[in-house]
Amino acid sequence: MYSEKVMDHFTNPRNVGKIEGASGVGTVGNARCGDIMRVYLKIEGGVIEDAKFETFGCGAAVATSSMATELVKGRTLPEALEVTNQAVMDALDGLPPVKVHCSCLAEEALHAALRDYAKKNGLEIEGLPEPKEDTHEREETEA
Ligand code: FES
Repeated sequence: MYSEKVMDHFTNPRNVGKIEGASGVGTVGNARCGDIMRVYLKIEGGVIEDAKFETFGCGAAVATSSMATELVKGRTLPEALEVTNQAVMDALDGLPPVKVHCSCLAEEALHAALRDYAKKNGLEIEGLPEPKEDTHEREETEA
């Protein structure tokens, strides 16, 4: 049911953990399954230097968080916006239809972290979408 890449990123997830003093932190939860993801970004000079995540959710949520953080590292902010849920799924050689929302949660967590970064720095990131309706975004209180 899952591709080898999904199994690899689920059993051996990359970038697990938190970044102290992150430039942006985004926490989102899916209202239906209850899974939660938090993404930390370290941004210097408009480039994502590091990305980490904590996920309390299903295997596909772990795999998509792992791949999403891998894909955004070293990218500029406009490039990071190209890391959509479809891009994450493609990089994982696909997901079963019932697990597509897990990749959407990864995209949302990334966007939430970028929104947090923009808010903290009084910036506007062109093309950064607003939160989706079925996603609960939490207000971040960390520095
Ligand atoms: Fe909801 Fe995977 S089942 S994020």
